[in-house]
Amino acid sequence: MKRRDFLSGLAVTSATLAAGQATKSTDASQNKDAQQNLKVPRTTPAKNIMISAANGITPRGSHIDAGYKKLAAGADTLEAAITTVSGPENDPEDDSVGLGGLPNEDCVVELDACCMHGPSRRAGSVGGVRDIKNVAALARTVMEHTGHVMLVGQGATRFAELMGFPKENLLTEHSRKIWQLWKEYHSDRDWWGPGLADPSFKFPAGLETSALEDQPKPIQRLYALAAEIGIPEARRMDAIQKVLDPPTGTINCSALNEKGEMSSVTTTSGLAWKLAGRCGDSPIIGAGCYCDQDVGAAGATGSGEENIKVAGAHTIVENMRRGMSPEEAGMDTLKRIVRNYNNDMSKLIYISMHYYILRKDGAYAGVSMWSGPAERPARFAIADGSGPGRHEVAKALFQGNPKDWPPMPRGRR
Ligand code: GLY
Repeated sequence: MKRRDFLSGLAVTSATLAAGQATKSTDASQNKDAQQNLKVPRTTPAKNIMISAANGITPRGSHIDAGYKKLAAGADTLEAAITTVSGPENDPEDDSVGLGGLPNEDCVVELDACCMHGPSRRAGSVGGVRDIKNVAALARTVMEHTGHVMLVGQGATRFAELMGFPKENLLTEHSRKIWQLWKEYHSDRDWWGPGLADPSFKFPAGLETSALEDQPKPIQRLYALAAEIGIPEARRMDAIQKVLDPPTGTINCSALNEKGEMSSVTTTSGLAWKLAGRCGDSPIIGAGCYCDQDVGAAGATGSGEENIKVAGAHTIVENMRRGMSPEEAGMDTLKRIVRNYNNDMSKLIYISMHYYILRKDGAYAGVSMWSGPAERPARFAIADGSGPGRHEVAKALFQGNPKDWPPMPRGRR
């Protein structure tokens, strides 16, 4: 190296170092500003607390209590939240998550999940994973054992195998039969073509007639088909409903401990009968779940496409940072979805959206776009050590029942 180059190198190095010092002090003052702008109550939570989607408590067991037991025993908040959501993931009877999840249009189960660990401010995510049921734990493994945040498709499945996750067929006979019913019944009304958000979207003719009495033949035909396929009578109407109203079942869970540490996780088999490769909101950090150790956590179930467009979980946490209560933060985010449709109720009736919100001081809320029917209102699960985990009714933006998408003639619920 020539002496001149060496000296100019030194000059660059000193300039860089000086600039680095300046950056450091700017960062420090910005950090201080960020802290001062926090409008979140500074109190630490009075107790450990967990919130989840309603399927955190099922007739087959209370998954939120299993997670809470670990939290109360001192487990990390993400470990407690993953324990909760692994319940539905392992349960073949829950056809919205993990093993036994409803498949895509090719009859393949594809799972999505993401997580955020508050204390270490890290995130992990997987999308379109096949043959691995515990994708919430897989998202944490991406977070802990790679320099990445998100793995998808074959790469994610291969990573899971390499990390020791067992490979198994996730399609149960129950879910396969409902797929078969959907396939055999199916017409030209599917996920191909422009969606509800397309400016030139037109409702297909005839869909406004939704009452069973106006549509007796399709339901009767479905009932006969379901019997032929061998779906037991007791489960036939449920299967028909899933064919007509493809569900987006999912579970989110957030956990907060007495030290004020918090984490959040979301896991799903996604929208039933989706196109292969479709990822919803559940693996998207900031949509399916978000956690900021300084503020709080939020997660979502429902219309993935709509939630992605408002970055729902992140919007809620940022709303709380600016001083909104958990309920106000969730309602404001639901209203952003309404705004995206210019308040058009003929379209909003097809959008189902639920948020589960936990602030750093232990305040919480469950909010929902629609109230659901009076006898079966939208709910969420809470565990706070004051007794067994319980369901609470979510605060609804609109009274009534959403119709699921794609719109099809449907039976009486
Ligand atoms: N919210 C789940 C999904 O849309 O896949």
